[in-house]
Amino acid sequence: MDRIYLIGYMGSGKSTLGLALAKALNREFIDLDNLIQSRSDKSIPQLFYQYGEEIFREVEASALHKTFLMSKIVVGTGGGAPCFYSNMDEMNRHGMTIYLKIAPDLIVDRIIKDQNVRPLLANKSKDELILYIQNHMNLRKQYYERATLIINADQKVPDLVANILQAIKTNE
Ligand code: S3P
Repeated sequence: MDRIYLIGYMGSGKSTLGLALAKALNREFIDLDNLIQSRSDKSIPQLFYQYGEEIFREVEASALHKTFLMSKIVVGTGGGAPCFYSNMDEMNRHGMTIYLKIAPDLIVDRIIKDQNVRPLLANKSKDELILYIQNHMNLRKQYYERATLIINADQKVPDLVANILQAIKTNE
């Protein structure tokens, strides 16, 4: 398949895994947030705070559409990308989607040091974060679970890559 989309909640490790997977498959890695930022000259927090989430989601969907024109890529999507418009269906139509599933308490440990670069998680105490992530993930899982492949993200990157390569082979 021409395009592999890594989806999952913030902090599930999409960028780290995406780079390693792209390298293993000899493909280009595209981070959707970076694509958005390079096209708008604004950081993700700036887009959120200046224009609001609705505009951010429009810009995000339009960046995603650009990837449908590219081939031999691994794309790390933002945590919300599959949950707006028909993005999830379209990613499934144009490629393979892989959901990196992870427990909320592990997410908190992973994101706490750079919590404020993610506007949806900014300025929350640790207790607030856990509750927010639990609820938010519950709302989002109906989208995430439509992925071609669901994988437990709490594994070392080389193991994740090996498991995914195996699953891709079976899928072909
Ligand atoms: C978001 C996830 C972020 C970024 C934005 C919104 C979300 O990307 O797109 O802050 O709604 O889950 P990461 O999942 O790469 O942190």
